[in-house]
Amino acid sequence: MLKNDLILRTLAGLATERPPVWMMRQAGRYLPEYRKLREKYSFFERVQTPALAAEITLQPIDQLGVDAAILFSDILVVLQAMGLEVQLLENTGPVLPDPVRSEADAKRVYVPDVEDALSYVFDAIRLTKQELNGLVPLIGFAGAPWTLLCYMVDGKGSKTFDLTKSFCYCQPELAHRLLQRLTDTSINYLLQQVKAGADVVQLFDSWGGLLGPEDFEIFSMQYMRKIIEALKGEVPVILFAKGAWHSLASMAATGVSCIGVDWCIRPGMAREMAGSQVVLQGNFDPARLLTPKPELKKQITRMLNAFGPGKHIANLGHGILQNVPVDHAKLFVDTVKNHVYQNSFEKSSL
Ligand code: CP3
Repeated sequence: MLKNDLILRTLAGLATERPPVWMMRQAGRYLPEYRKLREKYSFFERVQTPALAAEITLQPIDQLGVDAAILFSDILVVLQAMGLEVQLLENTGPVLPDPVRSEADAKRVYVPDVEDALSYVFDAIRLTKQELNGLVPLIGFAGAPWTLLCYMVDGKGSKTFDLTKSFCYCQPELAHRLLQRLTDTSINYLLQQVKAGADVVQLFDSWGGLLGPEDFEIFSMQYMRKIIEALKGEVPVILFAKGAWHSLASMAATGVSCIGVDWCIRPGMAREMAGSQVVLQGNFDPARLLTPKPELKKQITRMLNAFGPGKHIANLGHGILQNVPVDHAKLFVDTVKNHVYQNSFEKSSL
């Protein structure tokens, strides 16, 4: 039994007393406890050792008191499982020494038996659920096919992922074959996460906003739709496609439980475009967490009021930055937890 099911009630569309709160990339380098483990173990050691992954997953629950845990892992483990080498280099980020750019390269990419290839993720989920002991729900996740293709083709992080875009425009048939393999793998991966105990899953399309509206539909949205369809009736799904606000209506039309939005759109406009049914998640500018505290608190309250009472999960508009002071992150969480919806308060006191 869950002691705190606020995020699940919100995702089910129920009226709640306040919005639930968690932060994308909440387990990570801004936490001193995480940095200690980082000195001893490499990134993929931390990811592949269930006891370490579970410990890191719990750190922000203990330190900040967020309403949900998100499994410590990475979207790129799926590329490793599909046959590609992925390294994480200090101060550089992820690197794929042999990126995929031709028919010949694509022969190395296969749809794996995820239960076997990613068994350590499912072990980590089971262990984390045990250690959470019902304290808060656990969020599982996967990268969207388009965002994974970006790393597969460009071979490293980029501001524009031009190589991947030109790959799609010059070799569309091959790009679609790879996107379909990524989709099939992600569906199995997320279903296994649910089987292992994930209460919610989030799809991260971090680079969806690099595509124009038509290309977003062709190279990203149609594959995310298949994943959302395959998860219907399993657990609530949160779809976060950074920068792809132009497609909020088509994201809402998938029937997904929740849509994540970044800070470049006003909450009122996002609500108008997405319609009244879907829950919205976001959208505090991660860099805004560096604001001095009294002003920071005002900005957080302003965001909460802009979303209005209900159908909102308070979060950042993208991952937390590594230089955010822990007490600022805590102020974000506490401000949301102290927020009381005026409407539901009035209703319950009638
Ligand atoms: O949210 C959480 O706390 C759970 C853990 C999580 C990580 N990565 C841990 C991580 C999640 C959900 C991710 C997802 C992820 N990984 C995304 C999608 C979300 C987003 O931020 O857009 C992407 C694009 C990646 C790929 C990736 N992994 C990059 C670009 C980097 C390097 C840049 C960075 O932020 O450090 C990573 C490494 C990574 N993944 C770290 C962590 C804690 C840092 C590793 C370290 O140096 O300790």
